[in-house]
Amino acid sequence: MTNSPAPLWSGRIQGAMADAMVPLNRSLDVDIRLWPQDVRGSRAWAQALVKADVLDADEGATLLDGLDRVAERLSERDHADEADEDIHSLVERLLHEEVGEVAGKLHTGRSRNDQVATDFRLWGMEVVDLLDGALVKVEEALLDWARESVDIILPGYTHLQQGQPVRAAHWVLSHLWPAERDRAALDAVRKQAGVLPLGSGAIAGCPFPIDREFLRSELGFLSISENSIDAVSDRDWALGLAFVTARLGIHVSRLAEDLVVFGSKEFGFVRLSDGFSTGSSLMPQKRNPDVAELTRGKAGRLTGNLMSLLTVLKGLPTGYNRDLQEDKGALFDSVDTLGVVWPAIEGAIRGAEFQTAAITVALDPQLLATDLADYLVRAGVPFRKAHEVVATVVRVAEELGVEVNQLSIKSFQDAHTAFGSDVLDVFEWERSVEAREAPGGTARKAVLNQIEAAESRLQQ
Ligand code: ARG
Repeated sequence: MTNSPAPLWSGRIQGAMADAMVPLNRSLDVDIRLWPQDVRGSRAWAQALVKADVLDADEGATLLDGLDRVAERLSERDHADEADEDIHSLVERLLHEEVGEVAGKLHTGRSRNDQVATDFRLWGMEVVDLLDGALVKVEEALLDWARESVDIILPGYTHLQQGQPVRAAHWVLSHLWPAERDRAALDAVRKQAGVLPLGSGAIAGCPFPIDREFLRSELGFLSISENSIDAVSDRDWALGLAFVTARLGIHVSRLAEDLVVFGSKEFGFVRLSDGFSTGSSLMPQKRNPDVAELTRGKAGRLTGNLMSLLTVLKGLPTGYNRDLQEDKGALFDSVDTLGVVWPAIEGAIRGAEFQTAAITVALDPQLLATDLADYLVRAGVPFRKAHEVVATVVRVAEELGVEVNQLSIKSFQDAHTAFGSDVLDVFEWERSVEAREAPGGTARKAVLNQIEAAESRLQQ
């Protein structure tokens, strides 16, 4: 790093910044990525200054032209190791190099407080759209997998104990709907981010006749902030994004955990492709689901980032406080993390295969105990009574050391006279899932409707 350029506030403070203060003060390596937003915001501001007669047209044109050249320079190489304090200082210094003294007029009526809040929100609006697009790709992979696995019947688990049979597609799609809720939450965050702070100055507003409505439409915001004090300190949209990214992490970690469990020898329901499996440096036989474990691990990081932002914001006095500089790192990290996780998990889903032989072996006839109770219910037995009778039947089978569908008709009838000679028909996987035809259930028709509903949601 070269010697630090003079900071933007060098008149008031005499003498150089203490060496020990410099790295604490600096945020350029983090906020460098906001340069496109900073330049965009500055371009709009220069135009607003012209419209307010603060700058003449020539000065405005010079600044716009200079900002274009600054953008070109910034796009050519990473300037994160320049000695400037932050992205705003860097852009202003480069602008000065390009256009000279007139660069000093750009910051009229503007503060880095409303500037950074504006840059960050511009980034937030863009990133929400990018996240949405990337998430849809994961959902499409799930949807394709679901389409292929309608005919596979899998044990459905509660408490990680076999509960009732479900179509594999139904399980796959159970991971799509949380993502759809996250997309709706992302959309809400986009709206929260779309409030323009520019024109709030440091705290009290702008003393020049700035057209904030022009700034809003020029920068693509939805509305303008109502209170300048609130505007420079409000990071609620960022909290919203930190929350949604954390929840996205939780959701994808749940899928990841299922893949880890289903990929184990004991289950063996799903095999990940070679490209998404890893070996062991010691144990030659290993085929590890690292893609799923790393995904699960990253969820910790995403929730941590939410905690980090919440903690930074807690108890701050109103208005801008420098603590707020710490808002960006956590959120950038969350977005970057999902950017690494999603393509990998999408690839893992696309390469994953259900192992029908192992699934068939795992399907325990006890999964149909509820269906057995439903059989009695259809014969007029109250459900509570039916539940108790079937529990006895299951216990008797266990005591005799046989599967519940290997009991004699007589054993069933000893438990309840409502059992007829057709009771063993209950022990058919297909019949069980097909009984659940009510919307949202696991019958073929309900699952196909679900696939259709998911398709139309993703097309929106
Ligand atoms: N780097 C600062 C941030 O990220 C920019 C705003 C600085 N404002 C100030 N009053 N020092 O928040």
